[in-house]
Amino acid sequence: MRSLIFLGFLAAAIQVDAQQGFLSIDCGMEGDSSYNDTATGIVYVPDAKYIDSGVNHKISKTYMDATTPAQAETLRSFPNGSRNCYTIGGIKQGEKYLVRALLLHGSYDGLASVVFDLHLGVNFWRSVNITDPSYLLKAEIITVAQEDYFSVCLVNTNSGTPFISALEVRQISSTDVYRYVNQTNSLVLGTRLNMGDAPSIIRYPDDAYDRLWTPFSNFPYWFNISSSETIQRNPGDEFQVPGAVMATAVTPSDNTSLLLLMSAKPGPVRPEYYVYMHFADFDAPSPNHTRMLDVYVNNELKASNFQPKYLLSTHISLTYDLGTAVEYDIDLNHSGSSTLPPILNAIEVYTLLSLPDTATYENDVDAMMNLKNMYKMTKWQGDPCSPEKFTWSGITCSLSSSVQRQRITSLNLSSLGLNGTIPSDLAKLTAIKSLDLSYNNFTGPIPSFLANLESLSMLNLSHNQLNGSIPDDLYGRQKNGLFLLKTDNNPQLCQHGATCNVGVDDEKKSKKIATPVIVAIAVIGAVLVALLILFLVYLAKRRRPNAPRSQTPASPLKLDELKAMEEKPVGVDGRRFTYEELKNITNNFVRVLGKGGFGTVYYGRLLNGTEVAVKISSRYTTAEAMAWSPMSQTSDSAMAGIKEFLAEVSLLSRIHHRNLVSLIGCCMDNNVLGLVYEYVAEGTLKDHLSDKAGGGLNWRQRLHIAIETALGLEYLHKGCRPPIIHRDVKTNNILLDHNLEAKIADFGLSKAFQTDASTHVSTDVVVGTPGYVDPEYHNTFQLNEKSDVYSFGIVLLELVTGQPPVLRSPESGHIVQWVRQRLTNADISEVVDSRLEGQYDINSIVKVIDIAMSCINTDGSKRPTMSEVVMQLKESLQAEASQVRGNSNSDLVEGGVCKSSNDSVEMARLDVTNIMIGPMAR
Ligand SMILES: *[C@@H]1O[C@H](CO)[C@@H](O)[C@H](O)[C@H]1NC(C)=O
Ligand SMILES: *[C@@H]1O[C@H](CO)[C@@H](O)[C@H](O)[C@H]1NC(C)=O
Ligand SMILES: *[C@@H]1O[C@H](CO)[C@@H](O)[C@H](O)[C@H]1NC(C)=O
Ligand SMILES: *[C@@H]1O[C@H](CO)[C@@H](O)[C@H](O)[C@H]1NC(C)=O
Ligand SMILES: *[C@@H]1O[C@H](CO)[C@@H](O)[C@H](O)[C@H]1NC(C)=O
Ligand SMILES: *[C@@H]1O[C@H](CO)[C@@H](O)[C@H](O)[C@H]1NC(C)=O
Ligand SMILES: *[C@@H]1O[C@H](CO)[C@@H](O)[C@H](O)[C@H]1NC(C)=O
Repeated sequence: MRSLIFLGFLAAAIQVDAQQGFLSIDCGMEGDSSYNDTATGIVYVPDAKYIDSGVNHKISKTYMDATTPAQAETLRSFPNGSRNCYTIGGIKQGEKYLVRALLLHGSYDGLASVVFDLHLGVNFWRSVNITDPSYLLKAEIITVAQEDYFSVCLVNTNSGTPFISALEVRQISSTDVYRYVNQTNSLVLGTRLNMGDAPSIIRYPDDAYDRLWTPFSNFPYWFNISSSETIQRNPGDEFQVPGAVMATAVTPSDNTSLLLLMSAKPGPVRPEYYVYMHFADFDAPSPNHTRMLDVYVNNELKASNFQPKYLLSTHISLTYDLGTAVEYDIDLNHSGSSTLPPILNAIEVYTLLSLPDTATYENDVDAMMNLKNMYKMTKWQGDPCSPEKFTWSGITCSLSSSVQRQRITSLNLSSLGLNGTIPSDLAKLTAIKSLDLSYNNFTGPIPSFLANLESLSMLNLSHNQLNGSIPDDLYGRQKNGLFLLKTDNNPQLCQHGATCNVGVDDEKKSKKIATPVIVAIAVIGAVLVALLILFLVYLAKRRRPNAPRSQTPASPLKLDELKAMEEKPVGVDGRRFTYEELKNITNNFVRVLGKGGFGTVYYGRLLNGTEVAVKISSRYTTAEAMAWSPMSQTSDSAMAGIKEFLAEVSLLSRIHHRNLVSLIGCCMDNNVLGLVYEYVAEGTLKDHLSDKAGGGLNWRQRLHIAIETALGLEYLHKGCRPPIIHRDVKTNNILLDHNLEAKIADFGLSKAFQTDASTHVSTDVVVGTPGYVDPEYHNTFQLNEKSDVYSFGIVLLELVTGQPPVLRSPESGHIVQWVRQRLTNADISEVVDSRLEGQYDINSIVKVIDIAMSCINTDGSKRPTMSEVVMQLKESLQAEASQVRGNSNSDLVEGGVCKSSNDSVEMARLDVTNIMIGPMAR
């Protein structure tokens, strides 16, 4: 059952004593006993059951006084990890809840400010900007539970350590209140005010939903009024505003108008305001005394002749789309025939927040949560797949069109020191294609449920302590070629059909990451295949006139030997496709995505709908081998091509990183060499920077692309053993997906191969593309990571300037000279791509140029590593972000400017909200 997953979390099911539907978590509290809050009687529980990361702290004594709520005295902070999440089980899916986070910094770490983001589940909720350590921030949202749990995540934005003091969840069981809240729309609280003179915040038990009503009074132009009578509620009135809140109110001293002024920052999303006003009249009705009011928002009439009822709660709810305005006022004006001034007892202001993204498919979440708990994977936080930026390490996901949810398609648990039997939870991952459990200490038999995972095409169980024999079903699938199974180095495991000796299969020499050994095997294999193909090519070419002479291979292999070799995976982790399959996948090679040195790239779609790019080597299709173009290649490079192919396959299929284009499989069939790659929808960065695509990338997007590319390269250099040098970093090899996230293509190319015949440099030894090649490499022919750093520096310059590395006429020369010239005799904007139209933070640009210049240092040893580049680029992004954030934040504002007025205007800072509100005389 679902609720069981959150194992520790189950004790925590929401239902504590009388407070039905409440859960109150005191974060950072030591021990495991709960306590009753003296003011409210609400039971608070420690947070350890809901989270497995973070550090407990107490706020500094300086900020602790009699008014500090007990829950705020401790907090949990998250120095590690970019996203840390509380997971709260026992939630009723589809029900409405109020979720509130309390944050009091209290200078627990000696610092005073921090900025980070709060996410509710997989969606952004709000950003938190704390500059005053004594300020108790109450972040509140009313939302419909999309799952049977809530996760509340703190997301590090590199501006201090996220922290939280308390987390409160309240079920709002009525459907007749806050009706705007549904599966996609939530309301984020701006402010909730109890008008008039009240001694303190009113909440539970007065308020059944435990809303916090903050007193708001004492302004010039306003009178406080109150009633000692009980304020009644209609039976169907689900607002349930507490009587104590309704018993105080304000009226204008000039008898005409109550004006509330609010301000907000405009953002990319037009904020829509949802305002609820609550009224009850304290004056008994009489024929010559009426109270009627009109409500205007920014002079637009929203309600007219509204008549508050005597000692009875009534309500007005209205919405207002702020458009581009930054301020708005709500004006309660007395209606023409009214003899009494307007009155207001309480008001709530919310903004609409849509939560567009949904959590990962439930069964997948169940399975992953169990694995997380079983293997204590504390770095796995929140939802496994979403948002994409925080996908758990070791898994990949894709959107399933049938369930309209993210599903887990690969899981890599290799080398985690895991023991015990293979966990049965894996059976729930029914969309999984690739499962890697290698290099662990798994014991026991290979469970037969693995054979029922229909999409599974790669299963790596090598290097474990498994015993028994391979289940027939699995063996059968492997046999018919749909499936790659690795079981080597399980000393106790019997081979299929063999008598039960200790067996090792024929792949015992394969290693997880390409080692010299596997590369050697691949290369030997490659050479043999190459020789055969060359021989065929040779025969074909002999029949053509004018064909240049090609070398005859010394001893061609027989066809069945080649076949035998094709059967073996040659160290390939990816899936094997037949030529027929490729034909089907690409709909008979109908849509060409591009052409490169290796061959033509076609668009395709796997049976399960996954979009792919299929690279077919133009030189080795049978047809094209026959139509061998005499101009293009020598046999040497044909052989190099095959070597490159095999090297690329064996490397790529092992490498998975979000900023690297991943390889799904390959085809060696019918003399066709084909590679099936993940499809990256938006094409190359080069096209995006060229006029073709209108240079439509803004500076922020360019910075993100730079960082993502740098992360991909960093991974190749640091994450792979031995390190992988790309050798051909250029904007043409950086692809953008539909989110404009960068993915590097064409890495792992063999040294001898030129990716793009038209651009290769004069000698056979130098690889790369003019403009990008490390000058040091030109001189020494020594390739190392720093050569990639050089090329990346050029990419950075292209991102800043929009110029190609080798300038087009009428300008000429290299981009580096171009930039240097302009930097010495002009201001920086001369260098920046004019298509950015000045929309950037200049410090951010300067920083990136600095980074680029250090990358292209002629002395390779002085260039930074990719890790250093990543760090510096992130700083640059921060400079840019701090510039942009100022006007991209749709939150209601703290502080704010009051509308100009002839009268002096009092503004009040409300401790409960981050909205400014103030009365004005008209
Ligand atoms: C908390 O208060 C409730 C009544 O409101 C009482 O039943 C319960 O025993 C109290 N718990 C503690 C730990 O004091
Ligand atoms: C944070 O990471 C550092 C370094 O990896 C480690 O020493 C420390 O224990 C971690 N702290 C927590 C709270 O996980
Ligand atoms: C945080 O708030 C402070 C003070 O209001 C402001 O100066 C700063 O720019 C804000 N930071 C961010 C990232 O919004
Ligand atoms: C939620 O409400 C909005 C506006 O009232 C509506 O457009 C949207 O379709 C609703 N969503 C769902 C899932 O009902
Ligand atoms: C009308 O108002 C006056 C003074 O406000 C009051 O004395 C009088 O009784 C009222 N008349 C009625 C019928 O209520
Ligand atoms: C498996 O366990 C043994 C002893 O328990 C240990 O020495 C070895 O390192 C473990 N292997 C892996 C891959 O964790
Ligand atoms: C797995 O390893 C842990 C720690 O290394 C050990 O405590 C546990 O007993 C092992 N479990 C099994 C089933 O071997």
